[in-house]
Amino acid sequence: PSPNHVNIVEVGPRDGLQNEKSVIPPHLKVELINRLGKAGMTIIESGSFVSPKWVPQMAGTAEVISKMKRLHGRHYPVLVPNMKGLDSLLDLLSQYPQLSTEPPPTDEIAIFTAATDAFNKANTNCTVAESLERLEPVTRRALEAGLRVRGYVSVVIACPYSGKVDASKVKEVSRALLDMGCYEVSLGDTVGMGNPSSVRAMLETVMSGNGGLPADKLAGHFHDTYGTAVANVMTALDMGIRTIDSAVGGLGGCPYSPGVTGNVATEDVMYALKDSKYKVDGDLEAMVDIGEWMSQTLGRTNASRTGKAILAR
Ligand code: HMG
Ligand code: MG
Repeated sequence: PSPNHVNIVEVGPRDGLQNEKSVIPPHLKVELINRLGKAGMTIIESGSFVSPKWVPQMAGTAEVISKMKRLHGRHYPVLVPNMKGLDSLLDLLSQYPQLSTEPPPTDEIAIFTAATDAFNKANTNCTVAESLERLEPVTRRALEAGLRVRGYVSVVIACPYSGKVDASKVKEVSRALLDMGCYEVSLGDTVGMGNPSSVRAMLETVMSGNGGLPADKLAGHFHDTYGTAVANVMTALDMGIRTIDSAVGGLGGCPYSPGVTGNVATEDVMYALKDSKYKVDGDLEAMVDIGEWMSQTLGRTNASRTGKAILAR
């Protein structure tokens, strides 16, 4: 890939839907994922094997990933918080013969922790140190099973429970995830409070000095609560990062981060990079249609500015 190719990790079917009030039936999630694949998204986060008591919206992920159309050469990661989640996934994968022409439901998991204990306790009922301990054998087993493992660090700028976050903690946790075997660590501004100045300062700390992470092992995951997500994406790209998480229609939010809004909209990122030195995969017009369809289906207003503008033309 060219040095200015930007990988989009489309997180709409997972981050985008996990915080919705109404229950979304599996067939709609399948349709969303299929449409995203058709629109050219190459990495589509498709669900979570988490406790349905904690996040009821992600129940049914096994059904979704079994029924969705899996395109060759694409990745369909799912979130896994613990060994129980990985067990369920590996159970499902064991039903798929190795030599089938059909790709298996997924070849990738995402594990997640945070830069603060307060957020991590609210999200997964354990401290950051406990979560790293819990995730180490999960990662080892997933790698042995031939899966790729992606890591997430939440609340890299601000924490809804403990305020401003120490970037050196972000660096330390990111390093631990990489050392565990994650191929990449996605840095989540869960609260969406970051701006170019704070994101740059955080990245400078994470990427520099002893144990600093190289840009090609990092991804940016920006929520748009304060309207700064596209600016933060541009800042991350400027600092050499080439993987960005985004959600069609600007869907999303974390159930354990009250009041925050969705992810940066994939359409807005694509438009921001149009005619620039950066290249992204995917068909913008098709993504706009998907964002509008999904927003209408969920009864929410389309949160993509680009989507609304293109539809109004
Ligand atoms: P716990 O209550 O401490 O766990 O939760 P437990 O082991 O005591 O289990 C409680 C119940 O859940 C038991 O059921 C388990 O069997 C069940 P019961 O015996 O009571 O009937 N259970 C499970 N069921 C299905 N799949 C599993 C599983 N594990 C346990 N994997 C736990 C701990 C981690 C399970 C829980 O806190 C949890 O599921 N948390 C997930 C929260 C979540 O999904 N948050 C959103 C994703 S992260 C995010 O959005 C941030 C991100 O976007 C980046 C950013 O923006 O920052 C990635
Ligand atoms: Mg998120």
